[in-house]
Amino acid sequence: MKKIPLILDCDPGLDDAVALLLALAHPESINLLGVTTVVGNGPVQQTQENARRICQLAGRLDMKVFQGCPRHLFVKVGSSPSTYTGADIHGETGLGGCKLPFPTIPLQSVHAVSFILQTLLESSEKITIAASGPLTNIACALIMEPSLKDKIEKIVLMGGVIGLGNITPSAEYNFFCDPQAASVVFTSGVPIVMIGLDATRQTHTSESWLRTIESINTPISQAVVDMLSYYHRVDALFEPGVAGGVLHDPNVIAYLLKPELYKGRDVYVEIDVSPTIMAGRSTVDWYSKLHCKPNAYVVNEIDVNGFFEMLTEALGRYIFPEQKSHTCSHC
Ligand code: BDR
Ligand code: CA
Repeated sequence: MKKIPLILDCDPGLDDAVALLLALAHPESINLLGVTTVVGNGPVQQTQENARRICQLAGRLDMKVFQGCPRHLFVKVGSSPSTYTGADIHGETGLGGCKLPFPTIPLQSVHAVSFILQTLLESSEKITIAASGPLTNIACALIMEPSLKDKIEKIVLMGGVIGLGNITPSAEYNFFCDPQAASVVFTSGVPIVMIGLDATRQTHTSESWLRTIESINTPISQAVVDMLSYYHRVDALFEPGVAGGVLHDPNVIAYLLKPELYKGRDVYVEIDVSPTIMAGRSTVDWYSKLHCKPNAYVVNEIDVNGFFEMLTEALGRYIFPEQKSHTCSHC
């Protein structure tokens, strides 16, 4: 399989952190050109520091991390219909109960949007974008240079929902944070794979899976358990009926690695940008009632066992040098 040239735009965040670990575990399949960060689950200063922490934890000191937009396209007017924040789900640091040292890997001096623009414009091949946060950086890049769309292979994003939202009855969190940015992306003409809540709610943590990860017994598996034990508890409170922390964001990477685990439809999606209770709603024309040209492939089914097998195997790939030599000396 040809390596996928990829930019990951994210806001770590517990499930973003796991998505990043999943991507970094597959250097044979994914050529991760850079990690761009955005305000979302926390302020952008926090999300970029967390992205660097995770790269460092994975031993990828070479990874380039960029800080992006510190706010969304429009400032929300009036009172927000939602009162909870990223910290309620992801903890004050954005990484739940996992304490990682301040990262020594440098923050790149270039702005995330400039990096996206420059990388795409200079590339001789099309580049894929994986997006696991609000779409502010990507929308800014598309607004600054509309011809960019011809340089993007596709955008695989976690966001939106066919049914009920998770931050308001209408909207999913990433689209709710920046409805205008989501609208820019969905009207851009770039091929989109939308992995929304209808799909991601199927991939939630369980006690038994957390124990499986714990038994891998590496610094990374322990860090993941520390992160997701927090998520497992808190997210369950906010998503009645879902018996664990929902691993939304790793699905964007899992989709790229094994699209055969996913099923969906090419459909027309429109994002509500009104300053109402509908803000950020993704209306998905599943039955083609409007006869509009499809602008996204919307996923609604996941091979859940296949997803967890992939994630478990990926987390087991992180063996540190001392553990490798330890194993070998006794073989
Ligand atoms: C999305 O919101 C964030 O809290 C998660 O990281 C995920 O990207 C789910 O609605
Ligand atoms: Ca996220």
